Amino acid sequence: MKNLTTKNHQKVILVGDGAVGSAFAYSMVNQGLAEEFGIIDVVKERTEGDALDLEDAQVFTAPKNIYSADYADCKDADVVVITAGAAQKPGETRLDLVNKNLKIFSMIIKPIVDSGFDGIFVIAANPVDILTYATWKFSGFPKEKVIGSGTSLDTSRLRVALAKKFNVDPRNVDAYIMGEHGDSEFAAFTAATIGSKPLTAIAKENGLSEDDLLEIEDQTRKKAYEIINRKGATYYGIATCLMRITKAILRDENAVLPVGATLNGEYGLNDIFIGTPAIINANGLAGVIEVPLSDREQDAMAKSAETLKKVTQDGLA
Ligand code: LAC
Repeated sequence: MKNLTTKNHQKVILVGDGAVGSAFAYSMVNQGLAEEFGIIDVVKERTEGDALDLEDAQVFTAPKNIYSADYADCKDADVVVITAGAAQKPGETRLDLVNKNLKIFSMIIKPIVDSGFDGIFVIAANPVDILTYATWKFSGFPKEKVIGSGTSLDTSRLRVALAKKFNVDPRNVDAYIMGEHGDSEFAAFTAATIGSKPLTAIAKENGLSEDDLLEIEDQTRKKAYEIINRKGATYYGIATCLMRITKAILRDENAVLPVGATLNGEYGLNDIFIGTPAIINANGLAGVIEVPLSDREQDAMAKSAETLKKVTQDGLA
């Protein structure tokens, strides 16, 4: 008789137990994802406290072994999610964090790899596209096994704004923010649809001009600053994006998600991790969806890539 206690045991390790990491951990518990969840942070006591707090939530979701972990625990993890690093302060751009966080990453990637980890990296510290690239460089992993949160959060923000404007469920707005997760990001309005109808046609029917759409794009680009100026940081939105990406990996979904993905010629770009819709499954990045872009959007993608490449080259020089 089949051993009923044998089950598909999935393990996730979180590195960085700050506001984003802790919110991600809570989201994973809430969703009942992974049977084992380890938390690593320089402040060991915080991870012990979070593990004890989070384990009390599992009674109402799903049993999970949650614990304060060490790098050796990464060995047989399916996914390692990294949120460790300094977060933006009011007035700071994400790119301002590059030197500080590259230094942190140069110290944390090696012990993860040395543990024998051979799963998927999911990166969410800022500037996330550059730190995703750095994770690939420092780890020596195949590019497809390193995924950034990219423009997943920005895309959520765009969909929420458009859903409010057109009074529809944000889950039914098929629109993406692409490029840098940062000030050079842009909305791919041309290919956006609601219920298979072009967004631009719906906007026109509702009396919205192209400038009105560009205003929504600008508000989306600036939303993080609005939140940080009011509450000091952002964490629930990004944590839920990380949970969604991790779920697509654990469930081998082939889900189409806006992530920070490596490009091999798409949009005329190579040797970069940047925000684009991509197919995510148990092997990490299964493919990139190359969205048809207008001249404006293609130009914005090129400019965004140029910004990222310059900062990456300077930072990793
Ligand atoms: C934000 C942070 C996660 O956009 O970069 O809220």
